[in-house]
Amino acid sequence: MTSAPVKPRGELLVLGGGYGGLRFAAAMAEAGFGVTVTHRGQRDSAAADPWRWLAFDPDAGLVPSAGDLASTTHLLSTIPPDRQGQDPALEALAPLLRQLPLDWVGYLSTTGVYGDRQGGWVDETSEAAPSLERSRARLACEQAWLSSGLPVQSFRLPAIYGPGRSPFAGLQQGTSRLVHKPGQVFCRTHVDDIVGALSHCLALPAQARPQLVNVSDDCPCPSSETLGFAAHLLGCKLPPVQAFASVAASMGPMALSFWAENRRVRNRRLCQDLGYSLRYPSYREGFGACLAEERAGAPTPGPAG
Ligand SMILES: NC(=O)c1ccc[n+]([C@@H]2O[C@H](COP(=O)([O-])OP(=O)(O)OC[C@H]3O[C@@H](n4cnc5c(N)ncnc54)[C@H](OP(=O)(O)O)[C@@H]3O)[C@@H](O)[C@H]2O)c1
Repeated sequence: MTSAPVKPRGELLVLGGGYGGLRFAAAMAEAGFGVTVTHRGQRDSAAADPWRWLAFDPDAGLVPSAGDLASTTHLLSTIPPDRQGQDPALEALAPLLRQLPLDWVGYLSTTGVYGDRQGGWVDETSEAAPSLERSRARLACEQAWLSSGLPVQSFRLPAIYGPGRSPFAGLQQGTSRLVHKPGQVFCRTHVDDIVGALSHCLALPAQARPQLVNVSDDCPCPSSETLGFAAHLLGCKLPPVQAFASVAASMGPMALSFWAENRRVRNRRLCQDLGYSLRYPSYREGFGACLAEERAGAPTPGPAG
């Protein structure tokens, strides 16, 4: 007796095959979705990826046709604002996307839209108050998605970590810095909790999907704490602690901008109201899983950060 083919649960288009995009694509292909992922640059068409690659590089004039996307039911955009602060996907594709039979659209945003809260808590009801130019652009792009007429949920993300984007390589190569700034905390999420939150939300009935969802773990804390735990897992020494005030002058503008904002991001909507259980409630479980996966040499889609 032959078994019937598994019926795909939908056709997913992932705009931007980077770190989070490929991890989500892999999980959804595994779950039975037909998956298409966009790329810029060259791709090996013989690669045995469980998704179809499609060129999307509006700056180079490469934009999919209506026929390329015709059956798309689910869409995730991972593409950040461009240098002009515009959303490259909406700029190039909005009319086409409105013609698709879309049941769900996910947009990956950032918790930077909340701005600096001097260590205070924010949730999705907190007013956005971005202080950095890139966060103002992000908020404008998020609002453009939410007012696009598409069934959009925006997922606000803090720092993403996971296999290939962990503190271990820096510690092993001696390039990590142990910087302390009194009162400063950072929030983070494991990439597989982004995948889990997206999968959880798209499976909810449309009327039960809030427009804004923070995806952050339960444990905002100083980066010195997480680096200390990573060193403990590796059994290696920590670099000497440096006071932020004494090293700030040697930091680049991007690094400085991260230290300029201090907030704790609440995940109550995702984890209580929507009933999602974090796979990695803190860096302690998350780093252990990263190290195991890195040591196993499992393929990790996307570039290391
Ligand atoms: N990394 C973090 O800690 C963090 C934290 C909060 C929010 N986020 C946001 O969350 C999203 C996903 O993060 P990620 O780390 O998975 O990002 P990522 O690895 O950088 O992936 C972004 C993808 O978007 C594509 N892309 C960028 N600009 C494009 C353009 N103008 N046209 C077409 N494609 C374009 C990139 O293509 P190429 O590979 O060709 O560059 C890449 O495939 C991003 O929007 C990011 O800004 C990230």
